[in-house]
Amino acid sequence: NEIPIRQKSIVLIGFMGVGKTSIGKSVAAKLYRDFIDADQVIEDIFKMPTTDIFKTYGEPFFRKKEKEIIHGLCEQKLKIISLGGGAFLQEDIRSICLEKCIVFYLDLSWDSWKDRISLLIDSRPVLQGKSLAEIKQLFHERKVIYQTHHSTVQTDFLMIEEVADYIVKALK
Ligand code: S3P
Repeated sequence: NEIPIRQKSIVLIGFMGVGKTSIGKSVAAKLYRDFIDADQVIEDIFKMPTTDIFKTYGEPFFRKKEKEIIHGLCEQKLKIISLGGGAFLQEDIRSICLEKCIVFYLDLSWDSWKDRISLLIDSRPVLQGKSLAEIKQLFHERKVIYQTHHSTVQTDFLMIEEVADYIVKALK
């Protein structure tokens, strides 16, 4: 039951705050497809933000749910799906996404990303309580897990629309 390439869903990966959700929405609008944010699906189920899910149930519980949700999403065709920045830590998620979907990695340099920290810190449990040096280390460790993908978009100095256009063109 191989999904034909033109019908495969598109999955966006990358570090927190690189724009996976905004870019995903834009790609979906350009292609007249549905957009699904995997974190939003989890938040809707638990009726609380991811920060509270982390606090109430702990990270391992969140990761388990994240895996179940993404498995389900990957079975769907023609969707644009954004994943949480930690999803690709799980080998299981990496392999299902690479098999069933087209995976785009949204790359952004540390220099561009670091200016966004203050906007992200309140809603990202993984960043809370960490020093800038620790966040920088995490940023670079995570780069390694994002290296399994089908296509990269270097997003420094690009607007959301420009990144979305690049992805749409790359699919043609
Ligand atoms: C996480 C990233 C978040 C969210 C959760 C954990 C991570 O998603 O899934 O807070 O471990 O990097 P975004 O990448 O959308 O911020």
